[in-house]
Amino acid sequence: MRSAITRHMKRILATFSIAALSITFGSCSAQKEAVAPGPLTPLTGPAAPVKTTRNTAYVTPPVQGPVQRNPDINLPSNFSKGGNISFSRVPSAGQYVAITFDDGPHSQNTPRLLDMLRARNIKASFFVVGRNVDLYPGIARQIVAEGHEIASHSYTHRLLTKMSDDQVRQEFDKTRDAIVKATGVQPRVMRPPYGALLQRQREWVHAQYGYPTILWSVDPNDWQRPGSAAICSRILTQTSSGAIILAHDIHVGTVDAMPATLDGLLKKGYKFVTVSQLLAMQSSGAAAP
Ligand code: NI
Repeated sequence: MRSAITRHMKRILATFSIAALSITFGSCSAQKEAVAPGPLTPLTGPAAPVKTTRNTAYVTPPVQGPVQRNPDINLPSNFSKGGNISFSRVPSAGQYVAITFDDGPHSQNTPRLLDMLRARNIKASFFVVGRNVDLYPGIARQIVAEGHEIASHSYTHRLLTKMSDDQVRQEFDKTRDAIVKATGVQPRVMRPPYGALLQRQREWVHAQYGYPTILWSVDPNDWQRPGSAAICSRILTQTSSGAIILAHDIHVGTVDAMPATLDGLLKKGYKFVTVSQLLAMQSSGAAAP
């Protein structure tokens, strides 16, 4: 009897540890079958076999209720204009990371993403295309109203390396004007379309506008639409402290991937800041606590 109880306890413990493991290594798939404990052997009396048909239609429902939240972060965003003019990450930033979304605003995907970020108290950085800001000024205004950083990603999203300085100036002037008109704030950083800008142009843009060139250290290649689970696992695998994460809020699959991605990064202990806050940690010379 004693050994039967011990076996029973062991079995319960094993079931719990499998369940705990599946929680610890949370999956990137939105819907996942739970590890179902087998039928428990009764402690006393003859085991009465009960036949039930397997319910294959059951799917574990997505997580409801409160999710883990990013802490309130009150860090300066006034980075120094001296020093580096190109950044793909800020290694001195400790466990802080910046997640960035390019090419929007998008009429449906961006508001949906904003809801996901708000639920987790996460501030992101949106590298908007000026043309899209003119199309959806209300969404640009919402981005800023909810505490996110808005940044320039050119007006037409054409390759800047083939352009004259005058053409590049038009791209950044028109984008700045669209952002200011829609939101009342000035962009402080920029990302060139395709990440492509000659060193001479980077220096010229920095001298003209004060914008550093923001690249990235984490690239899930989400523009190739590899599916939400792949986007999520690529981001979770590649991210390290001080990372700048590249994603695109114009793609539905990218936004679909965000709940699991954001929750996974929070669970790993990362804290989200805007790109300007990340840069300010670099210019202050030390990682913030
Ligand atoms: Ni882009």
